[in-house]
Amino acid sequence: MNPQDKREIERRRTFAIISHPDAGKTTMTEKLLLYGGAIHEAGEVKAKKERRSARSDWMKLEQERGISVSTSVMQFDYKQLKINLLDTPGHADFSEDTYRTLAAVDSALMVLDNAKGVESQTKKLYEVCRLRKTPIFTFINKLDREGRSPFELMDEIEKVLNIQCNPITWPIGMGKSFRGIYHRELKSIILFKESGFATTEAEEVSFSDIKDSKIGEVIGDDAHQQLIEDIELLDGTLGPLDRNEFLAGNVTPVMFGSARTNFGVNAFLDLFCKNAPGPFPQKNGAGDLVAPTEDLFSGFVFKIQANMDKMHRDRIVFLRICSGKFERGMYVKNPRLEKEIRLSHSAQFMARDRSTVETAYAGDILGFHDNGNCRIGDTLYTGSKSICYEGIPQFSPEFFAKVDLADPLKRKQFNKGIRELCEEGTIQMFIDPRVGDQDPLLGAVGQLQFEVLLYRMKDEYGVDVKLRSQPFRHARWIRKKDASPVSSADVKGTLQFYEDTSGYLVGLFTSDFHLEWAKANNENILFMESFLGNPQGK
Ligand code: G4P
Repeated sequence: MNPQDKREIERRRTFAIISHPDAGKTTMTEKLLLYGGAIHEAGEVKAKKERRSARSDWMKLEQERGISVSTSVMQFDYKQLKINLLDTPGHADFSEDTYRTLAAVDSALMVLDNAKGVESQTKKLYEVCRLRKTPIFTFINKLDREGRSPFELMDEIEKVLNIQCNPITWPIGMGKSFRGIYHRELKSIILFKESGFATTEAEEVSFSDIKDSKIGEVIGDDAHQQLIEDIELLDGTLGPLDRNEFLAGNVTPVMFGSARTNFGVNAFLDLFCKNAPGPFPQKNGAGDLVAPTEDLFSGFVFKIQANMDKMHRDRIVFLRICSGKFERGMYVKNPRLEKEIRLSHSAQFMARDRSTVETAYAGDILGFHDNGNCRIGDTLYTGSKSICYEGIPQFSPEFFAKVDLADPLKRKQFNKGIRELCEEGTIQMFIDPRVGDQDPLLGAVGQLQFEVLLYRMKDEYGVDVKLRSQPFRHARWIRKKDASPVSSADVKGTLQFYEDTSGYLVGLFTSDFHLEWAKANNENILFMESFLGNPQGK
């Protein structure tokens, strides 16, 4: 690879923000984009979101419920780096979508509300990161308001999430008595100024000794005394951040601030630039690793979004580039299919604005138009060496329903809609092989997924659908322990047999008891809660 392309790859940083709704993810995103020069005025992301939803009716549901259903990708420059920030849906019912997005990042920022600490959705999202050993930064937000003691918050993160904290900054007071943050690495105090909500450059005071009496003159003697005690305690137990431990997902560097007042955001960005990893080498099939700077281009599909622009009825495939350089118009292979596809209509997205992309590099997220060739988890690559990345698992749904069409003549549109929405991962579909796809069983991880299905069926495909809830509790992919072929005749128990859209055998159980019985009485069988089919196709 030529040195210039190599440099481009080395300066890529791709991450996502995870948080419980209302902790400040949107505000933080906005401030990061502001510092990165991608937007010019605070409020633009939110305003754009609102203007857009008012103008088109794309995902009215999203606006009505105040939740972000879809994922957007934002790119900005900061110092020497090119940063890709992937937005994730905050609502628990879209955890599958979030899982897929987190598969495409190299690190994550966890934003916590200082009054609430670790909340339920943060915990779930964190667990996904943990599965993949994604390095995590932590930002404790809303220090301009009263909250819990920072020691208590550290303790909660360590106990609940089982990760060690290393505070890089430390708050001096909070709420009305918030004076700023002490930077343990830089040995400086960044003073908090109530600045309305505009961007202001923070004032920074550096010193060589924390006991310097000048500090007391700036922040007050009581606050100074408290700071000395806190820092002595921290420095006595924690050394500097061990970057390897951070990269392994064992330690999280913690920062404090207030996204709304732009406070601590710069310090976070600097820490991010210093420590966030660039694109990792990716595992090819069961064996070798593909380095991001290899000449060959490769990536995997982690998201599909149909009808993003309703006027054009388009289907956009989002690809995380894992190695090499993308050039518009290039031909790529998909090991699941026998043909090459041309990536000509490629785009990068800024919230929902898009611009044509001529080149992109490992670490970047590429969106391109596709007529139905690609599925989530597919690998695309160039060159003679065969590449197949691991893919992205499906999770057992917890809600099940069958569908009735208000107008049976709309069957064709329904079939098209359900196929496309399944490919996007909006919903899962299971087929009873004796009946065929005329009466599919639909599965969702959260109820809201069904609401999105009904809404989009009507809005995008013109089909009124009614759902009949089904009494199943669990779906389990059925495999033989020795990996030999399996059929329903091999399984004992009270369950119904279906197939997923790739033809893999799935057992549907109406109770925990039936599932446990089947597990105990089928020694050679695995009942899998999450499933990664063969990425090369069945
Ligand atoms: P989310 O995306 O995680 O759901 O959270 P979002 O950024 O929308 O923030 C949720 C609320 O918390 C917003 O208030 C936002 O202004 C507020 N907020 C975010 N960061 C801070 C902070 O550092 N300090 C304080 N005090 N508040 C913060 P809202 O009233 O719902 O909306 P808005 O009218 O202020 O925009």
